Amino acid sequence: MNNFIIREAVKEDCKEIRRLIQELADFEKMPNGPQIDTKVLEDDGFNSEHPIFGCIVAEVDGENKEMIGYALYFIAYSTWMGKAIYLEDIYVSPQFRSQGLGSKLFDTIAKKGLELGCCRMDFRVLNWNPANEFYARKGAVDMTRLEGWHHYSLNKANMEKLTSKTTV
Ligand SMILES: CC(C)(COP(=O)(O)OP(=O)(O)OC[C@H]1O[C@@H](n2cnc3c(N)ncnc32)[C@H](O)[C@@H]1OP(=O)(O)O)[C@@H](O)C(=O)NCCC(=O)NCCS
Repeated sequence: MNNFIIREAVKEDCKEIRRLIQELADFEKMPNGPQIDTKVLEDDGFNSEHPIFGCIVAEVDGENKEMIGYALYFIAYSTWMGKAIYLEDIYVSPQFRSQGLGSKLFDTIAKKGLELGCCRMDFRVLNWNPANEFYARKGAVDMTRLEGWHHYSLNKANMEKLTSKTTV
């Protein structure tokens, strides 16, 4: 039985985090999704005075500290309640699941949110993903089902179209 370490990510982890981001995209049946590269992760998470995101990683404790999971978050803002922690990704490699690691990563992000003064923790999940069950057991509420919210996204090309006549 392996022992695991859960810790804050450092800049040098970005290559392995990128590898796991790809594993998550493959799992979500969107292998061409991640366009990001290691350098962008390094710059946005670790090279700035005000990092855009934070990340917790899980690794096997031993000589070869293989990274086997991560949870990546950033701070969002609610006009109703103030700061919210947004869990962008949570992932555990298949052979290490069902050993409590996902739970530890999730709970660590919740703790981090409280430490940062957040009022809630938000995330999204595909409708077919069994992780829906994992989240429900954590006490999370499906806001689409409860209040009919839909998650929208405007791509960069459409953003550019809209901004040609903006003045501010
Ligand atoms: C979701 C995920 C992170 C959970 O990680 P994990 O290490 O397997 O979770 P844990 O071992 O801590 O399990 C915690 C509990 O949730 C349950 N659970 C975990 N994954 C589950 C799943 N996919 N479906 C149903 N229940 C699940 C476990 O049975 C366990 O319940 P218990 O404590 O009552 O025994 C992992 O399954 C994963 O990486 N999935 C693929 C990526 C993914 O879907 N990420 C979320 C994208 S939105």
